[in-house]
Amino acid sequence: MSLLRVGCLLLLLTLLGQSLGASPSFSVDYDNDCFLKDGEKFRYISGSIHYNRIPRVYWKDRLLKMYMAGLNAIQTYIPWNYHEQHQGQYNFTGDRDVAHFLKLAQDIGLLVILRPGPYICAEWEMGGLPAWLLNKKDIVLRSSDPDYIAAVDTWMGKLLPMIKPYLYQNGGPIISVQVENEYGSYFACDYNYLRHLSTLFRSHLGDEVVLFTTDGAGVGYLKCGALQGLYATVDFGPGSNITAAFQAQRHAEPRGPLVNSEFYAGWLDNWGSGHSVVSSSSVAKALNGILALGANVNIYMFIGGTNFGYWNGANSPYRPQPTSYDYDAPLTEAGDLTEKYFAIREVIGMYQKIPEGPIPPSTPKYAYGAVSMKKLQTVTDALEILSFSGPVKSVYPQSFNDLKQIFGFVLYRTTLPVNCSKPTPLSSPLNGVHDRAYVSVDGVAVGILERFKVLTINVTGKAGSQVDILVENMGRINYGSGINDFKGLVTNLTLGQDPLTGWTMYSLSIDEVVSQGLLPVQNPTLTNPPQPAALSPPTFYGGSFIIPDGIPDLPQDTYISLPKWRKGQIWINGFNLGRYWPTRGPQVTLFVPANLLSTAAPNNVTVLELEGAPCSSGVCTVEFTSTPILNATVHPDGNLLVKKGCDENEPRYCPQVLLH
Ligand SMILES: *[C@@H]1O[C@H](CO)[C@@H](O)[C@H](O)[C@H]1NC(C)=O
Ligand SMILES: *[C@@H]1O[C@H](CO)[C@@H](O)[C@H](O)[C@H]1NC(C)=O
Ligand SMILES: *[C@@H]1O[C@H](CO)[C@@H](O)[C@H](O)[C@H]1NC(C)=O
Ligand SMILES: *[C@@H]1O[C@H](CO)[C@@H](O)[C@H](O)[C@H]1NC(C)=O
Ligand SMILES: *[C@@H]1O[C@H](CO)[C@@H](O)[C@H](O)[C@H]1NC(C)=O
Ligand SMILES: *[C@@H]1O[C@H](CO)[C@@H](O)[C@H](O)[C@H]1NC(C)=O
Ligand SMILES: *[C@@H]1O[C@H](CO)[C@@H](O)[C@H](O)[C@H]1NC(C)=O
Repeated sequence: MSLLRVGCLLLLLTLLGQSLGASPSFSVDYDNDCFLKDGEKFRYISGSIHYNRIPRVYWKDRLLKMYMAGLNAIQTYIPWNYHEQHQGQYNFTGDRDVAHFLKLAQDIGLLVILRPGPYICAEWEMGGLPAWLLNKKDIVLRSSDPDYIAAVDTWMGKLLPMIKPYLYQNGGPIISVQVENEYGSYFACDYNYLRHLSTLFRSHLGDEVVLFTTDGAGVGYLKCGALQGLYATVDFGPGSNITAAFQAQRHAEPRGPLVNSEFYAGWLDNWGSGHSVVSSSSVAKALNGILALGANVNIYMFIGGTNFGYWNGANSPYRPQPTSYDYDAPLTEAGDLTEKYFAIREVIGMYQKIPEGPIPPSTPKYAYGAVSMKKLQTVTDALEILSFSGPVKSVYPQSFNDLKQIFGFVLYRTTLPVNCSKPTPLSSPLNGVHDRAYVSVDGVAVGILERFKVLTINVTGKAGSQVDILVENMGRINYGSGINDFKGLVTNLTLGQDPLTGWTMYSLSIDEVVSQGLLPVQNPTLTNPPQPAALSPPTFYGGSFIIPDGIPDLPQDTYISLPKWRKGQIWINGFNLGRYWPTRGPQVTLFVPANLLSTAAPNNVTVLELEGAPCSSGVCTVEFTSTPILNATVHPDGNLLVKKGCDENEPRYCPQVLLH
């Protein structure tokens, strides 16, 4: 080797910033109650961002805004079911390219606190666990159940080796890795399970990485949530007593850094309740209190984003969360800067240097206006096209899992066994409609059954009449003991006193059909029977619009509003945007990121309206607007009513338990 080359090599090593004796390190310093990064005292001020709730093209913009707020770290979950939707089929590309997300964070100058689960809660479908785990009907999730453990081992055996190069000590951005999530809030309290995870994570990631747990800030939560060898941290919001909360952490960790892993800058919503808001002033005040103690903090959420498609979770007793996960966070669902963003930035600036330079501006929004929608077909009319696998027959109803359906909709068909000349109760006595059932008899909509809300409707009809029941999965429970959330008709329905039998069940591949443009327009020879004024059978509608010429920088982000529509699902150019339910609220508009729109061809809007579209006169519209509405409910006449939710001035609306 020439001297020159030796010189170059030395220079290279120096440029890497590390002589061989001082490779990057991150650890807990128990003597000085802090973290140590490269041997120096270190405190993180972090924010939560879930890559799975933001289109990939916007990751950089959002991360940069977080960096410019003065954060030195971000925190993200990895939802198992987002990457292994079908057992053994992994997806880490496009919007699911978590490695790219980690690289972007590092390029921007942000460290990463990683929360790979396996359970994440997060108001995400089944708390991140894949629904196929329920194929074993009596599986005990989040425990030492051997089938659960085997699936976890396989998944972590895939995921953690991918993550390893991104650990801080290996030159990457990840300073710490959380094991499980708020395990102390779960009934199982299975220490062997936590121990197994701890060993599993260590075996894949090595001995050096800081592993930690997060639990509610109460000694009771830490009892089952903390484990020797995993650094115990707590979570709490602006309403909590900071001293008391950290005393709870000290109960589990007498020495080491104080850490609030989820400081709630906002709160979640549920369909039918008001929009949760937390004031900037209370967030700023409590953040200041936490930082003044020298504690580490992660702001949950710094940007909430969107539950696209079917990805929202639900609380128990069953209350599903809406499509928007705006969370009243410092960056809005669309990544816009808010007053809360600047309030937080100002507090951070009192403790560490805020980077210089411009903050990326909020993205412009464009109101593309009204788009006319035409009726395509009812679900029943389109059944041949929608059911790829064809029908399954059985005496008693089968669940989504039995039918190998994960998300969306299954059509359950049977006939009336007797003449129902008088109104006869059709019931789900055991609350087994999971979650909402749109019932028609001979093509006429007769009512809706809903889990925990409507257990009985009346039907009339002749013996032999066709009963079609479209059952919607509105999202699996993500928190508590109800996470084994089977979907479909999970118990028998009764007509009068007797269980209905003789079912033909159609698994529907609606997303595939919509994205492949296979939905036909209404066949003029097919006419649907007259419907009651209040209700129609589930029906597809379609429309299209062109991005206007001559306006610079289009397409831009927008919001879609369906003022007199009732409840359903929307696709833009085949991408499943999510659920709409303005009659329940509080979400009225859905965020449509610009990357879904095209200037090269007309943009296609497909709507599956489940209850009744405002199209009786033939013409009806959806509307693209430039402002979101997340705090209202729409009356059938189209009038908006503002709904307030969890607000510290109205604490009775605010859940007392921690739900993350
Ligand atoms: C994987 O995920 C990406 C991003 O969501 C998606 O575009 C792609 O179609 C998925 N691939 C498969 C094989 O499902
Ligand atoms: C907060 O908690 C501490 C410790 O439990 C207690 O001493 C203090 O009085 C509490 N403060 C308030 C305002 O309740
Ligand atoms: C239903 O009523 C019709 C007359 O309306 C009668 O012919 C038929 O036998 C009845 N069927 C049953 C199953 O009771
Ligand atoms: C069903 O009809 C009966 C008789 O008309 C009526 O008393 C009852 O309230 C109805 N039930 C529902 C759920 O509409
Ligand atoms: C329906 O009822 C039958 C007979 O009682 C029972 O064997 C079956 O398990 C029930 N099915 C469901 C899905 O509850
Ligand atoms: C909308 O649908 C039409 C007809 O199927 C298709 O030609 C067009 O490419 C679609 N537009 C986009 C942006 O995909
Ligand atoms: C509802 O939200 C809008 C912004 O989207 C806000 O301007 C308005 O003040 C909110 N109303 C209430 C009562 O919270």
